[in-house]
Amino acid sequence: MNTFWSDYVQSSEELYQSRALRFRKDNMYRWADAIGLRNGINILEVGCAGGLLCHRIKEHMPDCRVTGLDFDLGHIAYARQKTKELGLDCTFEAGDAAELPFEDETFDLCVSHTVMNFCEPTAFVGEQHRVLRAGGRMVIMGVYRPVTPEEWIPTEDCAEQSLFERLWEAASQNPAGNIARYESDPRRYFGYLQRQGFVNLSIDAMAAVKYAPDCGNVSCELAHMQINEDRLSELESAAKGLRLAPHALTHPEQQELFRLINQRWDRRIAQYEAGEKTWDFRISTVWIISGTKA
Ligand SMILES: C[S@@+](CC[C@H](N)C(=O)[O-])C[C@H]1O[C@@H](n2cnc3c(N)ncnc32)[C@H](O)[C@@H]1O
Repeated sequence: MNTFWSDYVQSSEELYQSRALRFRKDNMYRWADAIGLRNGINILEVGCAGGLLCHRIKEHMPDCRVTGLDFDLGHIAYARQKTKELGLDCTFEAGDAAELPFEDETFDLCVSHTVMNFCEPTAFVGEQHRVLRAGGRMVIMGVYRPVTPEEWIPTEDCAEQSLFERLWEAASQNPAGNIARYESDPRRYFGYLQRQGFVNLSIDAMAAVKYAPDCGNVSCELAHMQINEDRLSELESAAKGLRLAPHALTHPEQQELFRLINQRWDRRIAQYEAGEKTWDFRISTVWIISGTKA
């Protein structure tokens, strides 16, 4: 157990804000249906990071028992603190998905979102099978868009782009930033579920509009959240690059990179406030693979 993920891969805050836009409160009835939530059941989220999905589930179905598990201690500390602030009754445990610290047949539903490709698949599926009650359901969610810092594509400003590229060229040399990746083709997940004895294997999908600040069905508050979530993910990406390669940029260059990122997103906010529409939008598609423990 360590804080590797929250330090070098994705911070708790970044994941929390990003998932807040995917699992939106006003959409939870649709997610609840797709995941198979029912009132009163005992739910485990595997690889919960800062706990956004656990919180949304608990808010939507207060009679459920909700436990989140992650092996990153920074994420677990964040999730517990956030739970306190929100006044919710969710439990967060530090632990490995490949060796779940729970008794056999404890849960009615095991759910995960963008986690299975980072875990050894037989152990990942086998452990959730073990802790599920007969008739319980395992739900695996994933997105086609990989979440990596390389995805960050600065626009417009060449100075910003060159600073960012220099930083990440150096950061990618640091093996501390490497994460183990396992099975990433979701079609193969069915085989793992089947071999473990899961039945009634199913697929579903949900699309979430993550970013569309200019559209009439996006409130002013949500538009600000969407714009600032992009800002946060870029600032976090630069901060992670610097943790991996602290000397890649001089101190003034580091300050300049953060200033340029903020300047670009300040401009986007000002444009939004002035009613200048660019109509840019982004949608993420989530596949949902599930099976029942016989
Ligand atoms: C891409 S993040 C997704 C986090 C969260 N499900 C979400 O969508 O915001 C993957 C998460 O899985 C956790 N993780 C990866 N391997 C794990 C393992 N073997 N046991 C427990 N957690 C693990 C990481 O710490 C990280 O929080």
